[in-house]
Amino acid sequence: MRLLTPLTRKQWAGTAGVTFIALLIGATIAVVIARWLVGLEPVEEFLTRYPGEYELPESAPTGFPAWVGWQHFFNMFFLFLIIRTGIQVNQERRPQGYWTSKRGGKKISLTLWIHLVLDLLWIINGAVFVILLFATGQWMRVVPTSWEFFPNAVSAGLQYLSLDWPTHNSWVNYNSLQELFYFLTVFIAAPLAIITGLRLSQYWPRKNKALSNAFPIGLARKLHFPVMIYFVVFTVIHVILVFATGALRNLNHMYAAQDSTNWTGFVLFVLSLIVIVAAFVAVRPSLVAPVAQKFGDVTAR
Ligand code: HEM
Repeated sequence: MRLLTPLTRKQWAGTAGVTFIALLIGATIAVVIARWLVGLEPVEEFLTRYPGEYELPESAPTGFPAWVGWQHFFNMFFLFLIIRTGIQVNQERRPQGYWTSKRGGKKISLTLWIHLVLDLLWIINGAVFVILLFATGQWMRVVPTSWEFFPNAVSAGLQYLSLDWPTHNSWVNYNSLQELFYFLTVFIAAPLAIITGLRLSQYWPRKNKALSNAFPIGLARKLHFPVMIYFVVFTVIHVILVFATGALRNLNHMYAAQDSTNWTGFVLFVLSLIVIVAAFVAVRPSLVAPVAQKFGDVTAR
């Protein structure tokens, strides 16, 4: 039973410290092994044969259209707010207000209401993104199109680990490891977040016993949080790499739809952060309540 008592602040700091040191030692060992490996002749040959990227099909478009940038911005905007309100829903003991649909139904906290609204907007944005990806051929950048994808992902991983990072031209194509994580994020993590969230919400078709038994609520509860952690870890590493591998050029790709090294993309990126921070501050019951009122009945308790 003692193990179940919450950790004290000191225990948290100790655990975090030990975890950090363990990760540092693990990473150092991985780098030493990778550097030794890339010095071996067969591995050198492998790296020459598979440089970490493969050519996209001829029909693939080159460059980033503006809509990719807008989709990426809205994705980030909603995702950050979803994570913030999701944590609030989890921590909240005495909600400051409640919302009930005009058609009746379950009374939910205002925090859960705004979380669900943001979810819906994020899903619509994601659906538009996937439709546009397939309508324009842009999907070929984020979905593997050749068996060469696999050895190239291993090669790119080895190059990152040996600290001799793959040089790439992401205006034309991503390296295979990058592609792998974009694919996982768009086609695995996002659908998992949606389906587990739907299972936890009041919108799940509870009456359908076969469906509910096939996907038990306990499983959804177990997966929903780790998926959020995946998004956070992905984003941290993603942003570090964006900044460490030619920040101005990368930001121009995504925020200014151009392949140059001027400051336009960076300025637009900073502006987008200001918008996100402002929304972060604005998501509070006093401001959410009047909006929620338009879509249902808001009560204090
Ligand atoms: C401060 C936050 C972020 C910044 C600065 C950022 C920046 C970028 C940049 C510059 C690219 C293009 C990479 C290149 O040209 O090599 C990119 C691509 C991408 N990012 Fe982010 N990103 C951020 C957050 C996120 C988040 C939160 C997600 C999703 C969870 C995400 C998902 C993606 C995906 C899927 C792509 C590939 C899109 C495509 O080509 O269709 N990013 N990001």
